[in-house]
Amino acid sequence: MCGIVGYLGNREAYPVLIKGLKRLEYRGYDSAGVALINSNDDLNVYKTKGKVDDLENFCSDKDITGKVGIAHTRWATHGEPSSTNAHPHYSESKKLAIIHNGIIENYAEIKKNLIAEGVEFRSETDTEVLIQLIEFIEIKKNLDLLSAVQVALKQVIGAYAIAILDKNNPHQIIAARKQSPLVVGIGKDNQEFFLGSDASPIVEFTDQVVYLEDGNIAVLRLGEPLKVVDIHNVDLNPEVKTVDIALGQIEKGGFPHFMLKEIFEQPECLTNCLRGRISLDKQQVTLSAIIDYKKQLLSAKRIIIVACGTSWHAALIGKQMIETYCRIPVEVEYASEFRYRNPVVTSDDVVIAISQSGETADTLAAVKLAKEKGAFIYGVCNAIGSSIPRATDTGTYIHVGPEIGVASTKAFTGQVTVLTLLALCIAREKNTICDEDYKCIIKGLCEIPDKIREVLQENDRIAELSQTFTYARNFLYLGRGFSYPVALEGALKLKEISYIHAEGYPAAEMKHGPIALIDSDMPCVVIATHNEMYEKILSNIQEVKARKGRVIALVTKGDDTISKIADEVIELPETLECLEPLIATIPLQLLAYHVAVCKGKNVDQPRNLAKSVTVE
Ligand code: F6R
Repeated sequence: MCGIVGYLGNREAYPVLIKGLKRLEYRGYDSAGVALINSNDDLNVYKTKGKVDDLENFCSDKDITGKVGIAHTRWATHGEPSSTNAHPHYSESKKLAIIHNGIIENYAEIKKNLIAEGVEFRSETDTEVLIQLIEFIEIKKNLDLLSAVQVALKQVIGAYAIAILDKNNPHQIIAARKQSPLVVGIGKDNQEFFLGSDASPIVEFTDQVVYLEDGNIAVLRLGEPLKVVDIHNVDLNPEVKTVDIALGQIEKGGFPHFMLKEIFEQPECLTNCLRGRISLDKQQVTLSAIIDYKKQLLSAKRIIIVACGTSWHAALIGKQMIETYCRIPVEVEYASEFRYRNPVVTSDDVVIAISQSGETADTLAAVKLAKEKGAFIYGVCNAIGSSIPRATDTGTYIHVGPEIGVASTKAFTGQVTVLTLLALCIAREKNTICDEDYKCIIKGLCEIPDKIREVLQENDRIAELSQTFTYARNFLYLGRGFSYPVALEGALKLKEISYIHAEGYPAAEMKHGPIALIDSDMPCVVIATHNEMYEKILSNIQEVKARKGRVIALVTKGDDTISKIADEVIELPETLECLEPLIATIPLQLLAYHVAVCKGKNVDQPRNLAKSVTVE
């Protein structure tokens, strides 16, 4: 969704804001804008359609001075991408400027009332309605800005993270949050404040942050301690946390794209994810959440996993792991469907919420709903301190570091790794796994980072073969068992960054419909590793070849049967069947990446997508 940055302090705000916007650009990139108050107390707003680079070009001949400012990168919800609809938005008198991430659901009604009072609007956005309402209340009720914000927010239905500048109060920013994330960074002696949709624009300057909670309104004033109140002006005591993100983790580190960097980081990420949780010497898996909440987790009659997109694919693998080894029934639900269909959930259920960003609105709503119904909630998230882990009873972070590329890669393998650890822990406690399987999976998991390194060596070859497939308008991805979710994930990666239509199918389902699509123009990616399903997958490949389809097969190293039939073969190191997703996903990420690069697409910022979907 949109990205928000703010600065108040003693340095020039513009460079801090632009740098922050670039770090947040993954959240939205159809337009960008900045508002600054200069030393004459002029409130200047500059905004343009396009990316942060376009904003910089646009501002090159403007007055960009000022030690206080707010900036925004947008992913359109109300109103098409245009400079008019871009943020910041002025109030009618141009005394106030606002940036906003979220949706004001009752904006149309508020706008109608304000128009009836004679207020004129410049844009089609819900955000402008909010700032016009705030100014209208300020004037009509003769209130200070904070009180006017509180009155206005009482009228608003929807989600928001906002920041407001007031040219009459140039040493202050007012910010508020409900359902959309917002972090405040606190500089030394309160001589500087920073705002960000996440901590990435802040960590370069300070590691002291406050993650605002729903209903918090923050008043940032130079030289004064951060003040946080609620809508009724009750003083709150925010917890100041120390963030631990190294700058290198949020920069490209020599790779052309974040996505490629993040694909290549996976061996290290999974090592971090396993660290302290798995011991090859002791042949043991330990998750602190399982120790602390043993009773709740082991007594689960059923597990429901809620997630969206790539995280949902990880959930499908988690289901197979948990059902196979823990013998607990698992249902996997799209969070967006679950939340609206009055699902049957009881206090006997454990609900696992999987989310990289920890901010996905549908997943967060599903968590809240399940909690209301009495379920115990376990989070599997990446972004530390984000909303979902805060709303859950307990959970396990995947610890793969900030994921900036819009297409999720390392988060997926991190999620699958944590779900595997979780299944092992529960199975061990419940005694539903035999000693041999338990130890074998532990050994297999410890070998995964090196095996991923081996697969990454195929990068150049995958880049080369990708060139021959850029012509395709459709792709089919086939897999069975643990590889079926991998097929879904491979197809999603390709479609989101190369805009080629792709479908993932359980291989045996092909003959129930999709086989009709196969002709000489249709590439089929088949995960055909050496496991129990091998013979059956081999038949599926033959069916595709008989219809002149082109097959890219992922096979186990040394396979000399499929390599004779398939058009292209990518060899994978051998591992346990249940761990194959961690390896087989890597070439599919690389394939999607290289096809998109060959087609000249913007890999890190695919059209219409946003990294963190904080609206439904
Ligand atoms: C795909 C992708 C999305 C996300 C989905 C859920 O590459 O990134 O499908 O997986 O929007 O996001 P999180 O995991 O942040 O809840």
